[in-house]
Amino acid sequence: MLTQRALTWSILALFLLLLPTSAALFAQTDTQPEPDAPALFHTHCAMCHGEHGEGVSALVSIAGPSLKAEHNPGMAMLAIQAGRPGMPVFAYVLSVPQMRALADYVTQQLADIPLSGGNVSNGGVLFRVNCAPCHRTAVRGGGMVFIGTNAPDLTDKTPAVIAGAIRWGPGPMPPFPESLLDNQQLASIVDYVSYVQHPPHPGGNALGWYGPIPEGFVAWIIVAALIGATIWIEKGGKG
Ligand code: HEC
Ligand code: HEC
Repeated sequence: MLTQRALTWSILALFLLLLPTSAALFAQTDTQPEPDAPALFHTHCAMCHGEHGEGVSALVSIAGPSLKAEHNPGMAMLAIQAGRPGMPVFAYVLSVPQMRALADYVTQQLADIPLSGGNVSNGGVLFRVNCAPCHRTAVRGGGMVFIGTNAPDLTDKTPAVIAGAIRWGPGPMPPFPESLLDNQQLASIVDYVSYVQHPPHPGGNALGWYGPIPEGFVAWIIVAALIGATIWIEKGGKG
């Protein structure tokens, strides 16, 4: 029969036996080299997104959008981990540190189109002039059949994809360089398209409007609401 003392000793022995294994595990993670993000991008991403994230023409079947305006590392991490329509899931191929390094690389090294200082109403005017001939309205698309390709509706496009497409001109869409639309005009168009995708919703369950958009987006809305509330409280709680 096992005495209590023997039991204690055997548990201790088991623990000592496992100790070197766990120590080795820790040592291994300690000495793991930093992931080489440019090399990983070259191997896993460049064939669809271009060597510098500039996008690949939609005329080839593996086309991926430009990542030149992807400044949101959370959004990038989510796309890499979970995949996107036309983009594989990388959660089983890459380690978490590798995916993080890639998200940082994309948002800090490759992304060079700024997305600030936009104005929704200017964006509406610019959209009607520059985009509506093909996209008709941002939410319906299909304005005209252009070289056999129907311009898509823009309902589910993220700001990064919209800005990238404007500068890059995927497939039959013409590019709009800074000489045609400066960065502020570009930001205005992006703001306008985002606005008509999700018009302000008076009351009710606002979440329903946003559909399958990552939680990050909801978090921003909450942050915006908190800022709003703070301003309201500061004003003495009156409208
Ligand atoms: C087989 C082609 C393919 C490969 C490989 C690929 N992507 Fe993509 N990626 C796409 C497509 C297509 C989309 C756009 C999907 C959509 O319209 O929502 C996309 C979207 C993205 C987005 C989101 C853009 C946005 O704002 O919606 C990010 C970020 C991204 N990819 C990064 C990467 C990284 C980093 C890698 C390498 C680890 C990679 N992709 C590999 C095709 C690919
Ligand atoms: C001459 C017609 C034309 C004009 C003008 C045009 N587009 Fe496009 N656009 C297209 C076509 C065609 C596609 C589809 C390309 C493809 O993927 O084959 C497209 C694709 C897009 C996409 C999707 C990119 C992706 O990777 O999913 C966005 C976003 C977009 N356009 C935004 C705009 C904006 C904003 C403007 C105005 C500044 C604009 N477009 C002007 C024809 C046009």
